[in-house]
Formats: sequence, structure tokens, C-alpha cells
Amino acid sequence: MKTFTMNVNGQARQVEAEEDTPLLWVLRDHLDLVGTKFGCGMSLCGACTVHVNSEAVRSCVTPLSSLGDKKVTTIEGLAKDGKLTALQEVWCDLDVAQCGYCQAGQIMCATALLREKPKPTDEDIDLAMSGNLCRCATYTRIRQAIHTAAAVQ
Ligand code: FES
Ligand code: FES
Repeated sequence: MKTFTMNVNGQARQVEAEEDTPLLWVLRDHLDLVGTKFGCGMSLCGACTVHVNSEAVRSCVTPLSSLGDKKVTTIEGLAKDGKLTALQEVWCDLDVAQCGYCQAGQIMCATALLREKPKPTDEDIDLAMSGNLCRCATYTRIRQAIHTAAAVQ
């Protein structure tokens, strides 16, 4: 066991864990940030997507020791002062979620896409989001939400 100081959602957090502990379990079990979900544990579904220095990464295959002082952002850290992002607002307005299980990962991935490409095409969206699976097949609404958010931001 080692003590790590992490930057999570703008706060310095200390965690005592093995250095190969996946970020997903650090977030959920050590920091009680349970918005990030476990799906496959093998980088195949996207349910565990968070941002590391603004880039979308799979937290299930990201070891704690790889983070250093990089900035980790989870779904709990997107809203600022209780105000949802434009994308989150649109997501709610369009009722994108069905069961909701995959949705934190979808929003984190879509947020990273819009940061990189403020006006993405359908092809951009399909490419960026193709690794985020949704068993409820909300893909059409996800695409619509990304386009709508791109138009208002
Ligand atoms: S739980 Fe990480 S990609 Fe599926
Ligand atoms: S909303 Fe149910 S898995 Fe995506």
C-alpha cells in the first residue's frame, strides 16, 4: 500500500491503495464517487469513462500510479456551482437516458468530443462515441443531444 495524492474534480484527495489499483475502483470505493460505473472492466464498453486532463479515458484500465498530478474529472465534477453544463441540460431536456447505467460514460465521452470538435459531424460523433455501448440503444438521442448542445454552446 502507498499513499497517493490525486487531483479529482478540482480537489486534492489522498488515497491509500496499491499502485496498480484501477482508477475506477479508487473513485468508487475510496472516494465514494459512484457516478462512474463498472461495465466490463476491460476497456470495451465505456461505462467507466472519466477525463484525465480533459481527455476521455477508461478508468477501469487506468492504474492509479499512472496519474501523478494529472487532473481527473468525473461526472460529479462537470457541473460548476450546481449549474449543469449545456450538454447535461440538453441531455435532460431530450430525455436521453433510459436505464441510465451507461449515461455517465456517454456524457463524459461526448463532453470530451465537444471540447475537441465544437461542431461535430455525424461521422465525428459515431467515431468518438463508438466505444461507448448502450444496452438500451439510446444512440439516436445521444447523437441528437450532441448536435443540439453544439448548436447552443
Ligand atoms: S468498465 Fe471500463 S470500458 Fe467497460
Ligand atoms: S441507458 Fe441503459 S444502458 Fe444506456
